[in-house]
Amino acid sequence: MSEHRVKIDSIAKATPEKVLSNADLEKIVDTSDEWIRTRTGMVERRISNENTAASDLVYEAAEKALKKSSIKARDIDLIVIATVTGDHPFPSTACIVQSKLGIHGCPAFDISAGCSGFIYAITIAKQFLQNGFVHNVLVAGVEILTKITNWKDRGTCVLFGDGAGAAILTEAHKGEISEIIDTFISADGKYGNLLIQEAGGSRMPASKETVEKNLHTVYMEGNKIFKIAVKSMGDAADIILTRNGFTGEDLDWLVPHQANLRIIDATAKRLRLLPQQVIINIEKYGNTSSASIPLAFAEAVEDGRIRRGDLIVLDAFGAGLTWGSVLLRY
Ligand code: UT7
Repeated sequence: MSEHRVKIDSIAKATPEKVLSNADLEKIVDTSDEWIRTRTGMVERRISNENTAASDLVYEAAEKALKKSSIKARDIDLIVIATVTGDHPFPSTACIVQSKLGIHGCPAFDISAGCSGFIYAITIAKQFLQNGFVHNVLVAGVEILTKITNWKDRGTCVLFGDGAGAAILTEAHKGEISEIIDTFISADGKYGNLLIQEAGGSRMPASKETVEKNLHTVYMEGNKIFKIAVKSMGDAADIILTRNGFTGEDLDWLVPHQANLRIIDATAKRLRLLPQQVIINIEKYGNTSSASIPLAFAEAVEDGRIRRGDLIVLDAFGAGLTWGSVLLRY
């Protein structure tokens, strides 16, 4: 059976309107604009209102992506959503989004791979499209991290923001330059406890005590994660370039996960990239986990930096621990 080539047909983003600045955070915890800027590169992030859930942002981004594509909602035959902050533990946010889009019957599921979620979701969607099992896939990354943030922990509460990005993946026809060329995903569960939402699952169900101890919020050992992130993001980008016969010089763009400007700079340096080859929007949105890559990608398409045919590496690292990369021509 011949394999189909796969491309990203369109991509769009959705972010809450409300902005939370470093100055706002100075009023909540013992921190400073200067510390946050120099240690992370973040200046502000978006925060959802109490009525907004993950499916609302995905739906908004998906509608925009569909408008930019010739594919209609009724043509979608698979939905894959990367998130660790879905509307509910179950049912999946993908099923909720399917219903919001007014479509029925196609398979829909969520995947949990922390900040690497969008890379994992693209990898899964590509397999389904490649073998002809489906023809058009909605892939999204979304997080409402500000609802699982410990606002007493200055080590984490300054980092996270909310947002979503959604892409329509479809077959690339003969002669088309756009193509998802290759994907790479990896994980090492032995580091899982370094970045975790401890309570609310079967290991530690919700109780008065878990709420009082803030165990339903993000726990992260940032310093240890930082070192592994620098190595893993560099490795993931290096592997996907090397095994496809490219070097950093060939790249139009690196779209890295936006966790820390220092991690992004270290990755770019290892690949010998120039600053103008790297998409960075961490200063506006902070760390939006699964949403960070599609959000940065969509923004760069919207403002004309990323163009059709550009050679791009998407590169991520996150909870699990997980990491991965995608090599594509947009
Ligand atoms: O999304 C995927 C996974 N996540 C990541 O990849 C995140 C990786 N980690 C990081 O980005 C960084 O480790 C952080 C930004 C989280 C922290 O930066 P750091 O340079 O590693 O700082 P640190 O945790 O080593 O803390 C240094 C100092 C400490 O004070 P002392 O012990 O040296 O007196 C902290 O208490 O900075 C202090 N600190 C703060 N000070 C002001 C920690 N958070 C803050 C804060 N404001 N918000």
